[in-house]
Amino acid sequence: MFYLKIVVLCVLVVLAGAERRFPDGFKFGAATAAYQVEGAWNVSDKSPSVWDIFTHDQPHAIADGSSGDVACDSYNKWREDIELAAELGLHFYRLSISWPRLLPNGFTNIISEDGTRYYNDLIDGLLEKGIEPVVTLYHWDLPQNLQDLGGWTNPLIVGWFKDYARIVYTLFGDRVKTWITINEPIVICEVVYTMGTFAPGISSPGIGNYLCGKNILMAHAAAWRVYDEEFKPKYHGKVSLTNQIFWMEPYSEEFIEEAEFTMQYAAGFYSHAIYTKEGGWPPTFEKYIAEKSKREGYPRSRLPPFTEEEKEFVKGTHDFYAVNHYTSRLARSLQPGETAGLWPMFGAGEIDVFLDVHPDWPQAANSWFFVNPPGLRKLLVWLKKNYGDLEYMIIENGYSTREGDINDSKRIQYYQDHLEQVLLAIQDGVNVTRYTAWTLFDNFEWTDGYTSKFGLIDVDFNDPSRKRTLRNSARFYANIIKTHSLDDINTINKI
Ligand SMILES: *[C@@H]1O[C@H](CO)[C@@H](O)[C@H](O)[C@H]1NC(C)=O
Ligand SMILES: *[C@@H]1O[C@H](CO)[C@@H](O)[C@H](O)[C@H]1NC(C)=O
Ligand SMILES: *[C@@H]1O[C@H](CO)[C@@H](O)[C@H](O)[C@H]1NC(C)=O
Repeated sequence: MFYLKIVVLCVLVVLAGAERRFPDGFKFGAATAAYQVEGAWNVSDKSPSVWDIFTHDQPHAIADGSSGDVACDSYNKWREDIELAAELGLHFYRLSISWPRLLPNGFTNIISEDGTRYYNDLIDGLLEKGIEPVVTLYHWDLPQNLQDLGGWTNPLIVGWFKDYARIVYTLFGDRVKTWITINEPIVICEVVYTMGTFAPGISSPGIGNYLCGKNILMAHAAAWRVYDEEFKPKYHGKVSLTNQIFWMEPYSEEFIEEAEFTMQYAAGFYSHAIYTKEGGWPPTFEKYIAEKSKREGYPRSRLPPFTEEEKEFVKGTHDFYAVNHYTSRLARSLQPGETAGLWPMFGAGEIDVFLDVHPDWPQAANSWFFVNPPGLRKLLVWLKKNYGDLEYMIIENGYSTREGDINDSKRIQYYQDHLEQVLLAIQDGVNVTRYTAWTLFDNFEWTDGYTSKFGLIDVDFNDPSRKRTLRNSARFYANIIKTHSLDDINTINKI
């Protein structure tokens, strides 16, 4: 009997252990973005991006009045960055290409030799270390001259972006096999046009954000189709966009419908057109905005419709589903006289849902960031239910602090808790194949400047050499990568 008990115990331990291992072939990486790390904003023939102009003209819009002029100086220190990525054992490194560095006037008649050399060096350097480059075409640094022509609200940008994408695939497609077309459309359209707080800082709530939204989906589809038709046959890579999605939890049982409607806004706005059989806008949301626009006296919906032809054009333009995730909200209906609560990512008052956070969710270093690890699992399960049994990639997830402590135990806890939820989602049957830490090292965090730090690696921004120092979370993450599991985390935690 005693013997049997020991056998049972051993089996249980083995099973529990197995559950904490990531599937074979699961890949771990870390991400950065061009404007946040490169610096060298005015070298050689590079032209200014909207973020260069915005930070220079409106320093008061940035928490510490800073800019990405120098940032981590990765334009000059890319060799060291690759060394650090290799030290962590990353399987892949996600970087973005600066459109105005590669194409100084935004169009394709002039291709910067300097920009081409920089990205070739970076990509080749990563490959030499056995690290896969995962490349984002657009991470928010639009050439200012294209913004002057209306940027993402001008439908012509669909063609401009397609031309740019073709150049990037032509230059780097022989070595880059995983592409993200556009990073977080919701931020590009809502934080720029609804809130007016991110570069170029244009306030046009309910109009500009929707023009932007439609053009972004069309531009993504155009860039996906160029790859699919002209490059996929010889390079066999994969292309998708990545969405940043807050998990919307019902405030209580009676608000399941409100939470679901909000998810159709938060996730569906940039997914439904691409990932569903019917295509176009999420129907509940499209109807809602049409009716609201009518009540407001507009002759037609503020949300521009897709023609049948456009629906077909956008539908199915994916090779995987990519998601960036940080935080959750509690959703419930508005009480009479109440305005729409904590609503950082979308137009206050556009939908009559109150979004709150649970008092037990600790706040990280950003106004919008409250920690709720189970939200990640629930989100992944929701995505699979809505968009199907696809390959899912977590393309950003990470934690911010105000202090730059090397012993960053809260960041370690965040990674541990979220990776546990990834394992649970995999057990739920969601085919998650990649996890990407945001971010490899502290960098220019948009309007938070250098006041919020997301890095596994500390960067000393007062040091002209931008000294990099591994935090404990970097060692913690390296160990998870090495063991391919969470089995070892208790020992690692004691570092
Ligand atoms: C580039 O910008 C820096 C400020 O970040 C300035 O000191 C430098 O003179 C500029 N270089 C050129 C070539 O304009
Ligand atoms: C997950 O997706 C990858 C890439 O498409 C595929 O190779 C793999 O077989 C899938 N795994 C499962 C369990 O469906
Ligand atoms: C790191 O911080 C944690 C929590 O504050 C503490 O328990 C631990 O002793 C610290 N480790 C080191 C090496 O300072």
